[in-house]
Amino acid sequence: MTANLPHRMDPLEKLKDDAPGRIESAVTIAELDEVEAETVGRRSPIAQARRGLGGIEDSDERGATGKAINEVAIELVTLIATRRSALEIAEVNAKLAADTVDVTLPGRVPARGTHHIIQQTIDEIVDIFVALGYQMVQGPEAETDFYNFTALNIPETHPSRHESDTLYLEYGDAKDEILLRTHTSPMQARHMEAHEPPVYIVVPGKVFRADAIDATHLPVFHQIEGLAVDDNITFADLKGTLGEFARQFFGADTKVNFIPHYFPFTEPSAEMHAYTQGRWIELLGCGMVNPAVFEHVGYDPDALSGFAFGMGAERMAMVRHGITDLRTMIDPDVRTLEQFR
Ligand code: DAH
Repeated sequence: MTANLPHRMDPLEKLKDDAPGRIESAVTIAELDEVEAETVGRRSPIAQARRGLGGIEDSDERGATGKAINEVAIELVTLIATRRSALEIAEVNAKLAADTVDVTLPGRVPARGTHHIIQQTIDEIVDIFVALGYQMVQGPEAETDFYNFTALNIPETHPSRHESDTLYLEYGDAKDEILLRTHTSPMQARHMEAHEPPVYIVVPGKVFRADAIDATHLPVFHQIEGLAVDDNITFADLKGTLGEFARQFFGADTKVNFIPHYFPFTEPSAEMHAYTQGRWIELLGCGMVNPAVFEHVGYDPDALSGFAFGMGAERMAMVRHGITDLRTMIDPDVRTLEQFR
């Protein structure tokens, strides 16, 4: 179609001969851009030829030359466009191939944490009581002398009030000092003061005592307190409830035994022992709520009765897992902790 270019078209002839080959052999879009600039761009032989058109006086010749230039230009532009879309498709395919995710590769498993054995034990114990209809409540760790001792019928002279046993804080006044609670029992009084009976609560939490660390003592440990108050609670309810707890926590064949004890806030009081893993073991303190406690919180001791209990979370975990040194509970070594996943 452009066979007979006028003599001025020599550079175009050359272009027409070798441009298609160069276009075809461009292997990237960047390379093709370059070829495009050199063949049909502003400095290309085509552009130069077009600029030369104005110098052709004979209008027929000018028309024929212009037409011939356009034919070459159209042919090259078409080749470039075809090549461009082929290269674009190839580039997208190459990207997709490089991005492919092999879904059959094993994943990277993130390190999985777990609750500490003490927390696991507390959760399990609380769950057992919640299933029996109890509500979980929590109280302050910094407590007043009134709730920690007085409301619980613990006399002024009781040795547990001594600084050698109780950690006092520098707050409050001489009459009602602030201390770190030595047990979770103060929540009995706080809860009854704020709620009408009936009461069925469990109270997990940290407690503090002025003890040095050894195999059987920690200055900070955990207790779970329980309190049931209603209009006709008897010692049989206490035995039934705590026996059921022991069977759920240690196993269906666990036997329990109640041995008389003394606590100021319960009367009568007992220690519950359980026969588990081939031996009798002391588990917790309990008893019928002392009427004096009801009086302190404004409950009618003639109309109401109740039972209470308190147990150590670390102790329950140790009995359950056969641990003999309390310090295992505060060992930060993951190898220790991993045993109780
Ligand atoms: N508060 C007692 C302690 O820390 C445990 C306890 C005993 C709680 C008997 C009770 C109870 O509620 O009835 O040693």
